[in-house]
Amino acid sequence: MKILIINGSPRKKNTWAMVKRAKSILGEAEFEEVQLMKEKIPMCNGCFKCIMESEENCPHHDQINTILEKLRNADGLIIASPVYAMNVTALLKNFFDHTAYLYHRPEFFEKKALVFVSTAGAGQNDVAKYIDENLRHWGFNKVYKAAIACGGKEHLETKEIDKASEKFKKDIESNKLHSPKFMDILFYNVWRAMALTEDPIKADAEYWKSTDLVSHDFAPVVKLNPIKKIFAKIMFFIFKRVMK
Ligand SMILES: Cc1cc2nc3c(=O)[nH]c(=O)nc-3n(C[C@H](O)[C@H](O)[C@H](O)COP(=O)(O)O)c2cc1C
Repeated sequence: MKILIINGSPRKKNTWAMVKRAKSILGEAEFEEVQLMKEKIPMCNGCFKCIMESEENCPHHDQINTILEKLRNADGLIIASPVYAMNVTALLKNFFDHTAYLYHRPEFFEKKALVFVSTAGAGQNDVAKYIDENLRHWGFNKVYKAAIACGGKEHLETKEIDKASEKFKKDIESNKLHSPKFMDILFYNVWRAMALTEDPIKADAEYWKSTDLVSHDFAPVVKLNPIKKIFAKIMFFIFKRVMK
């Protein structure tokens, strides 16, 4: 089992302790670490090139794609951030900004993630939810979360970390993909319909057509039950009309 770890904390302390605990539970897995602090990724300059033209035209493409390539080759992702001013760290937010084009062109339909958030006292659940949402927009199949407040505590509370890590491990070992949530189906069909408008974003149209995702209610590796299929078809029909 290959696990990519992306650490959004500038240091290896409270949040890293959660990652370390998960590593001990995941046992024999092979881990690769990306310490965002060391990557020195310049700030996203808002040029829109990734979204409108191609992610390859991002001035920081090599750095971003190197990390995404590691993710493509991994069975699962552990992603961690402390709460900074009630959000993820700027390091992780900057990474997410550079990957915003993935909202338009989701690709990680077979990936599962384990999210760790630590905080002094507040914001941990909202921040974990934010990371979860971001990954789902990338196409992620399943996201497990553990979010803890460690202010004033000497010892790490391990119950939530252990539970999430064990579920994550079992899930990856099962090789099964989960049925998507209705919101995931809805967003998939928003971008799918957008790629088919008369004047689409060219990079989106090219991606959806070249992958043939455009012909499917949802990524074909993931099975939909009849109700979700009907829901996907209705959503696609509505969004196509709205965008016209
Ligand atoms: C710049 C900064 C901003 C922070 N903002 C918050 C916050 O909004 N709410 C909170 O409860 N803790 C906040 N904290 C505390 C950290 O979230 C907490 O100590 C966390 O466990 C640190 O993780 P680390 O050891 O991985 O850096 C902040 C800490 C720093 C350095």
